[in-house]
Amino acid sequence: MKNNEKLIEQAKNILYKNDVDGYTVPTHGLYPFQWNWDAAITALGWMKFDEPRAWQELEFLISGQWEDGMIPHILFHKESDTYFPGPDVWGSDKLVKSTSISQPPVLTTIVKMLFEEAKDAELRDEKLAKILPSLIQYHLWWYRDRDPETTGLVVSYHPWESGMDNSPAWDSALDAVPQVTWEYQRQDLNHIDASERPHKEQYDRYLYLVEFFKNKHFDSNDIYRDCPYKANDVSLISILQRATLDLLALCKQLNVTGPDIESLKVSVGLTKNAINDLWCEETSFFYSKDLITNSLCKVKTNAGFLTLFGELANDEQAEKLAKEAVEWMSASAYAMASTDPRESKYEPQRYWRGPVWLHINWMIALGLELNGYSETAAQVKEKTDILFKKSKYFEYFNAETGEGCGGDNFSWTAAIALHWLL
Ligand code: GLC
Repeated sequence: MKNNEKLIEQAKNILYKNDVDGYTVPTHGLYPFQWNWDAAITALGWMKFDEPRAWQELEFLISGQWEDGMIPHILFHKESDTYFPGPDVWGSDKLVKSTSISQPPVLTTIVKMLFEEAKDAELRDEKLAKILPSLIQYHLWWYRDRDPETTGLVVSYHPWESGMDNSPAWDSALDAVPQVTWEYQRQDLNHIDASERPHKEQYDRYLYLVEFFKNKHFDSNDIYRDCPYKANDVSLISILQRATLDLLALCKQLNVTGPDIESLKVSVGLTKNAINDLWCEETSFFYSKDLITNSLCKVKTNAGFLTLFGELANDEQAEKLAKEAVEWMSASAYAMASTDPRESKYEPQRYWRGPVWLHINWMIALGLELNGYSETAAQVKEKTDILFKKSKYFEYFNAETGEGCGGDNFSWTAAIALHWLL
């Protein structure tokens, strides 16, 4: 068997192994439920060899949508005692138990990709007719509930909502959040070495926010008013922008019109105008913003490059970002490091503070391509390819040694390999 065929087989087997009666866990043990952006990315992998299963992944995810349109970050379809904090701590009373925050909505972009890739047109049309109205409600929710003052920049209430949970970008904003004082038993450290995971004081603050949402009965207005952590997450905003543009393209193709669609068009325009609020002229980079102190989170992380993916950077900014990407890649042995290797907060092995994630590289490469930097995009792809071939399908990779870190046999790594690299 040729090497690539073997890798394809292994990647497929990971998805089969992580399948739990129709949805896919990111990896058994460490993450035993269905995660929002993981599910979307994993569907890309399934699509390569089982189209019905790819659509099913997304239907499972959408089955957890709240009445207000929100699609949660985790769906606790079945119980498991290998993860904390579980449904009781989150306290939601929905039919499908879930967390009360969302995650970067790459889902819609992926639905558009599946739509374009589908060989079974009948199945595609049937699934899309079901999924599209939910996607529209999901996007309307982002702009309505998370940008109540129509600034153009949606607000996130938890580092976990960014998907880049432990990014140094959140450090100072999170420091302002009180710590819980009750005892709890973390489960992640039963699976993974502590040097690759967040510290306890960060966990205490993550949990404070989880309780805060519950105590506010998940009321959007109250949370917006009182939440001690509010951020304009540049990565989430860029992914949302990409996804809304893709949603509008899908609607156009399918002749879906009406006031909701018009309102989404207004939202993308607003975001495009507002994005400069997150640009720092002095360092020529995009950052997230802490809305409690009204200041940029000035640590360079790979989130800033995703503005290319959302077509939010102007030509001059795009040129600067593309140049920066090349320097960034040569500053660590493996690329692209999630935190700029020249930053003092850079830790090449710790969760979101330095390691490389395949799906982020993929979005950065797509963004570079969209902006005309195909050579740099090809370089990102090559760097990504080396990594997973060296260390297989881990959750993320040490940016200096290339070693696999976090969970093994990881769904999104296998899916990105199947979709993009193999
Ligand atoms: C971690 C990651 C998050 C991901 C989840 C499941 O919490 O930070 O982005 O969705 O694991 O893989």
